[in-house]
Amino acid sequence: MEFDHHSAGFAADPNPFLRDLRERCPVAWSESHGGFWALTRFADVDRVLTDPATFSSRHDLDPDSPFLGVTIPPPPMAFVPVEMDPPESVAYRRILNPLFSPAAVDRLRPRIEQFTDFCLDRFAARGELDFVHDLTSPLPAMVTLDIMGLPVDDWPRYAATFHDMVAYPPGSPELEGAFASAQAINAELHDLVEKRRADPARIRLGGVDALIDAEVGGEPLPVDVLVDIIRLILAGGIDTTTGAATGAFVYLGEHPDARRTLMDRPELLGGACEEFVRWVTPTPLLARTTTCPVEIDGQAIPEHERIMANLAAANRDPATFAAPDDVQLDRTPNRHVAFGAGIHRCVGANLARAEMEIMIAAVLRRMPDYELTAGGVQRYRTSGVQNGFVAAHATFPPFT
Ligand code: HEM
Repeated sequence: MEFDHHSAGFAADPNPFLRDLRERCPVAWSESHGGFWALTRFADVDRVLTDPATFSSRHDLDPDSPFLGVTIPPPPMAFVPVEMDPPESVAYRRILNPLFSPAAVDRLRPRIEQFTDFCLDRFAARGELDFVHDLTSPLPAMVTLDIMGLPVDDWPRYAATFHDMVAYPPGSPELEGAFASAQAINAELHDLVEKRRADPARIRLGGVDALIDAEVGGEPLPVDVLVDIIRLILAGGIDTTTGAATGAFVYLGEHPDARRTLMDRPELLGGACEEFVRWVTPTPLLARTTTCPVEIDGQAIPEHERIMANLAAANRDPATFAAPDDVQLDRTPNRHVAFGAGIHRCVGANLARAEMEIMIAAVLRRMPDYELTAGGVQRYRTSGVQNGFVAAHATFPPFT
């Protein structure tokens, strides 16, 4: 069937199309971007994500190879370890886990609160803001740079680069500009890693230094691999949380009753954030490549075919979620796949939750009466890589 996840028509309102696809053709073939099988049922998506032996994440950076990584179409760079398969990926994942463990995130909370207040103080007297530009894009960028021990002052460039990399469709000048900026960041990270590695007595500043000191199979990691890992953490950390948190502010702007509920019952905030992550599904689809012939829902699929696991559709499958299009602040159970599933499940999930909770709590405390500006909410022009918002304008009584 005709299905291009990068088209503007799809991005404007993907859910009715995905509902129809799931009901009528849950294993659909599309010729777009070299051809892929689109899966929209929760059970099929979960199966693909939890069976890496059959559904590979490998990205060979060779257009003649069938292994083209986790996005469709693939970007001109590979991400480590998310575009690797076990057992190779497991050793890398072990290195990442301590940076984002529940204990590490708990230690970061006061810092995240400081950065959040810094963002709010900057627009407090103005009486108007764009949630994306003023809060939900800068905050995750500042926090991620801080964790990595990279210069926090440089957040505008990082935020813009990783935001534009997912907000614009293939072939657009904005996307080409973002790739160019990412290459420049790559080159800088390369220099930085080489310099820091050359000085074993250096003061350890954060994640970059921890990765430089790490070993896989008893060997330190090559500089190129270190840069690939750092870039994945930046890309994973910077714009995904932006989409989920902006979606929350848009929803709460449109539903003052839900805002009141969260203010009266702050104990609901954790579960509500989980629900906003499901409802927005910032990473709406993940690609895999079949390593052997398989059958899905009675459909035979040969080896080396591209599979699109549609997380956004899975998260609204009525077979798994009651009233899936509604936000239920206290939804339980809420076993969504917005953070993925299986061995590559998002390593930053704890951090994303903490950032969202802290941002929402601060906004409800300091500017509870914000009102969305009519026509001020603008979605990404493509939802082929991320679901999110270019802008979400609001006004509020100035505060101190
Ligand atoms: C709401 C926010 C977030 C969402 C929805 C999200 C989504 C995802 C998803 C779906 C995956 C699985 C990819 C796959 O299976 O191919 C993933 C992996 C990953 N995420 Fe996140 N993410 C979020 C926040 C973060 C944050 C804050 C960080 C770090 C600062 C991060 C870093 C990563 C990394 C490094 C991986 C790769 C893990 C691996 O390959 O083992 N993410 N994320």
